[in-house]
Amino acid sequence: MPRVRVAPGCSLAASCPASATARCSWSGCAAIALLRRAVELGVDHIDTAQFYGDGLVNGLLREALRPEDGVLVASKVGAAPDPGGQIPLRLAQRPEQLRSSVEDNLRSLGTDQVPLVNLRRADVGPGLRAQGDQAVDIDDQLAVMTALRDEGKIGAIGLSSVNLDGLRRGLPAGIACVQNAYSLLTRDDEDMLALCAAEGIAWVPYFPLGSAFPGMAKVTDALAVRAAAQSMRVSPAQIGLAWLLRHAPHVLLIPGTADIRHLEANIAAGTVTLDDPTLAALDAVPSRSAEVPLG
Ligand SMILES: NC(=O)c1ccc[n+]([C@@H]2O[C@H](COP(=O)([O-])OP(=O)(O)OC[C@H]3O[C@@H](n4cnc5c(N)ncnc54)[C@H](OP(=O)(O)O)[C@@H]3O)[C@@H](O)[C@H]2O)c1
Repeated sequence: MPRVRVAPGCSLAASCPASATARCSWSGCAAIALLRRAVELGVDHIDTAQFYGDGLVNGLLREALRPEDGVLVASKVGAAPDPGGQIPLRLAQRPEQLRSSVEDNLRSLGTDQVPLVNLRRADVGPGLRAQGDQAVDIDDQLAVMTALRDEGKIGAIGLSSVNLDGLRRGLPAGIACVQNAYSLLTRDDEDMLALCAAEGIAWVPYFPLGSAFPGMAKVTDALAVRAAAQSMRVSPAQIGLAWLLRHAPHVLLIPGTADIRHLEANIAAGTVTLDDPTLAALDAVPSRSAEVPLG
């Protein structure tokens, strides 16, 4: 089984805005078909958030997935929808907001426990930074996350958009995964990746292909990626994903897609083997910072 995992979260939310009712009913069917195809292909880890379409994506997951599929649904807390904003999100970092977001996830997913919840910080990576009462000490946030785990409402705790100091402070709580923005083109986090490997923590890079946001460099546009794809007769996206799989043995991939052909190709990336010269050429691509504004 390839180690590729697929997270249709953002792409579904982006292609199925809650305000567009007519388009939504069509997209909803397409989304369910995509999710069923993902399960059929062996995907067992799907990334989501209550704030993707204000419960819309969670509702699609609830409709599409069955307990016997054995899919681990990972969600995240730390933000809330902001439909009028430049990007449709605002931070919701305070402990009571984290708790209420977990409750919202439980309701929209129709479950008694979310198997894994990422505490989405705003320490590093693209997008929002916490200010004022949204700048909350990670220890206060972990206190509520561990309480929610003790209560059985969440199965495991992950950290997202976290810096090294935050991860070190989180270790005693037991951290299952780290989800930071990272790809072949944005490798700010090599120290974090090494710490995760040493601590047995799964590395789950978000924006593994550079996202759909205009401000982020696209892995599929990089010359070295395109050259490798051409010589290996695979797609540039498959090269970008194969590099991630090769680069870190503890990686779980969550490329977002709303396209079934892309889904199939992304899963097949698990069978693409990079030879040493190709790997060296990809390793030599200069890393750019992921610290960019979005929207
Ligand atoms: N923790 C966080 O703060 C955070 C933030 C953002 C995202 N995430 C999670 O990370 C996941 C991945 O992020 P993302 O979807 O924003 O970025 P991404 O996976 O880097 O890129 C998605 C973009 O790549 C395209 N794509 C996917 N497969 C492709 C293929 N085989 N060939 C060509 N293009 C392809 C998609 O278009 P198509 O739809 O046309 O395939 C979409 O435009 C999300 O689903 C979300 O669950 C987490």
